Amino acid sequence: MTQNTTQSLKELAKRRGFFIPSNEIYGGTAGFYTFGPHGTALKRNLEDVWRDRFTYQEGNMEIEAPTIMPEDVFEASGHLETFDDMIIECPECGESIRADHLVEDNTDIEEAESFSTDRIMEIIEENSLQCPNCGEELADVEVDDFNLMFGTNIGPGDSSPGYLRPETAQGIFVEFPQWKEYARNQLPFGVTQIGKAYRNEISPRKSIVRVREFTQAELEFFIDPEKDEPEMEDVEDVELRLYPINEQDKDGGEVLEMTVAEAVENGVVASDWIAYYLGISKKWYERIGIDMDRFRFRQHLEDERSHYASDCWDAESEVGGDWIEITGFAYRGCYDLKKHQEHSGEDFTVFKPYDEPKTVEKATVSPDMSVLGPEYGDRASDIADELGRIAEEEPERFEEQESISLEIDGETVNVPVEKTGFTRKEVEETGEHIMPETVEPSFGVDRILYTVLAHNLEEDEVDGEERTVLRLPAEVAPVEVAVFPLMDKDGMGERARKVARSLRESGFSVKYDDSGAIGRRYRRQDEIGTPICATVDHQTLEDGTVTLRDRDSTEQVRVNVEELEKSLKGFMDGNDLKEF
Ligand code: ATP
Ligand code: GLY
Repeated sequence: MTQNTTQSLKELAKRRGFFIPSNEIYGGTAGFYTFGPHGTALKRNLEDVWRDRFTYQEGNMEIEAPTIMPEDVFEASGHLETFDDMIIECPECGESIRADHLVEDNTDIEEAESFSTDRIMEIIEENSLQCPNCGEELADVEVDDFNLMFGTNIGPGDSSPGYLRPETAQGIFVEFPQWKEYARNQLPFGVTQIGKAYRNEISPRKSIVRVREFTQAELEFFIDPEKDEPEMEDVEDVELRLYPINEQDKDGGEVLEMTVAEAVENGVVASDWIAYYLGISKKWYERIGIDMDRFRFRQHLEDERSHYASDCWDAESEVGGDWIEITGFAYRGCYDLKKHQEHSGEDFTVFKPYDEPKTVEKATVSPDMSVLGPEYGDRASDIADELGRIAEEEPERFEEQESISLEIDGETVNVPVEKTGFTRKEVEETGEHIMPETVEPSFGVDRILYTVLAHNLEEDEVDGEERTVLRLPAEVAPVEVAVFPLMDKDGMGERARKVARSLRESGFSVKYDDSGAIGRRYRRQDEIGTPICATVDHQTLEDGTVTLRDRDSTEQVRVNVEELEKSLKGFMDGNDLKEF
């Protein structure tokens, strides 16, 4: 797809009600788009197909959390400190520019996000890079970190700061203690969420690809890494196109083609869980109409990874000559659950029963409070807790020394061992508490929708006339069937309206259109990707058949109205129109 067709896509999006820039009557707001009727329908369908695959078919649970969350959440998650992009502000015109994108757009460097701010400044100087707005030289201009979260206040005043969530994931993590109860403490289990995320992007661009409010469809899958394994047989033969770190680092590095099983065997994808999700996601992308010749999985470079990820792969689609990230597959380990446990004091572990109970030696203390109380006053109970911790983690200290030295409120306290009630005893344990690890596929619905439009938009010729056609899979098309009367006379209009009503009652999304020449009506439906048009004509009034016309081949067949619903269902399930 060339820049011209990127332009055609932008025009089509507006003309046919897919999406439009928001608030244009007030000059527009960069980074915000409003979805029109066909865009909304397409988006809902993509979300439903995602829900079908990643929630229902995987047996996961779907939740819906608030989009505004208190500061504590993002302090714990690390977003407050590290969720930054690099910004450079032009001293001449005041334009704010994303510094790594400035470098990528004007040099051969591909993943400038992985560089430090100092290195980016050097590159800007070495290449005499200029402000894209006014042409001012930017050498020596400071490159800073800019936090992408939108801040707000919860309630009146500023005593309770909050943020619009930058990822839907945190709404899943903070409620983990509840989800584990619903999962009856049994790993593995997954929680999904489809919802809005917000990032105050420095320079929103490329239509709906980089916006400030967007929809994510995320799965957080919680596993016991020592025990749980994915159902590899479901995906082992799926062919992947992989662009791992070592190929990206090489001159002339290549995208490697191999199956999921080979990727795991050869260690190209280290986690079998990540490999599993690459496999099922690839099949899902095909299902929604993404062109697999314009698609790859790229591994994040080490310095490019988010603060929470130990390995990450992006699904990338090619549009207009650029690769865009449409999904991130991150191995988040126990980073998030551990952080929220530490910050909240709640229990984020899961009890893992042993196959057989185990007899283990346990060190415990039973401090003599009648001694600690009078001697240490308010601090006595903190001292008792600290003694308990040391008994659990460093029991040998009670046997090597005569007194235990503790730090309480910055002061050193020495407690004689004989007053601690230290003992070792054998106890029977039925299991242990473990911190689950998390595997996260995080899909950006807007970028996926954009890719689906771009990969299915074509110009062809029908009866010597050029047409624009969106070859969307029937399952995601905004309108499944359009119903036309050849003309709104001789009862054809009434008959067609009845057909449309009955198809709607059967659950089809139907567009009724009786305006203009029939050819023009077909073109309008082709442009929004409607797979089938049904026309009521004179013959319908005589023999009860309607004409069905296939969007892609433009072939037509006649079907009895009584059989219409069944025929359409068959078509939506992939049967050929000719088989009717
Ligand atoms: P990028 O590097 O392009 O900024 P990212 O690595 O920050 O993306 P993630 O944090 O992995 O993206 O977010 C998960 C998914 O959310 C992405 O794969 C993408 O599809 C979507 N996404 C992220 N930022 C935006 C945005 N500003 N506009 C639209 N979609 C986005
Ligand atoms: N949840 C992954 C991300 O949005 O970064």
